[in-house]
Amino acid sequence: MKFFIDTANLDQINEAQELGVLDGVTTNPSLMAKEGITGKENILNHYKKICEIVDGDVSAEVVATDFDGIVKEGEELAKLHKQIIVKVPMIKEGVKALKYFSDKGIKTNCTLVFSAGQALLAAKAGATYVSPFLGRLDDISTDGLQLIEDIRLIYDNYGFETEILAASIRHTMHVVNCAKLGADVMTGPLSSIDGLLKHPLTDIGLEKFLQDAKSFNL
Ligand code: G3P
Repeated sequence: MKFFIDTANLDQINEAQELGVLDGVTTNPSLMAKEGITGKENILNHYKKICEIVDGDVSAEVVATDFDGIVKEGEELAKLHKQIIVKVPMIKEGVKALKYFSDKGIKTNCTLVFSAGQALLAAKAGATYVSPFLGRLDDISTDGLQLIEDIRLIYDNYGFETEILAASIRHTMHVVNCAKLGADVMTGPLSSIDGLLKHPLTDIGLEKFLQDAKSFNL
């Protein structure tokens, strides 16, 4: 399972990278805005900075919603760095653009996916990644994990190579449950990765080991 961090915050990306388990980064316009990054040049430079920190894929989202605009923006983003994955919304023009990018060998991440039907369409269009937003489904009393399970079944039935990127992860149990269901990737906040470390028995056990080790007189 690949671990991506869902942020545009360079400190947090660095911290996750230092842990040694980071496989990539996902961003979106809201996350970029949260960091106060504005203006085309600054935004493109920020993507480059992220690519320099991590070795893996970095999703950069288009904001155009028409086919020509998505293609223009996506091609520009893809040229920026070899690690850039063009993030395209699940809309009709987006599906057309996914097919266009796929035919041209440009890697994509289909975002804002909330149903198995949308995920099927994204795979048919040749998306590299599909991003079902499980946390936002949970927020409206719908089972986000069920969607991950349904997409896994459909993709396995037909051997689709599109990777399931479980997005809108909110906590560690989302990560663990997505792993159990066979999601290829998870993207979440730093806390969802750090949380995997924690267990009170580990802390209690370590304290005891260290206390007993004092008798070694090292
Ligand atoms: O990057 C897309 C997705 O992960 C957004 O998550 O927490 O805003 O629902 P969230």
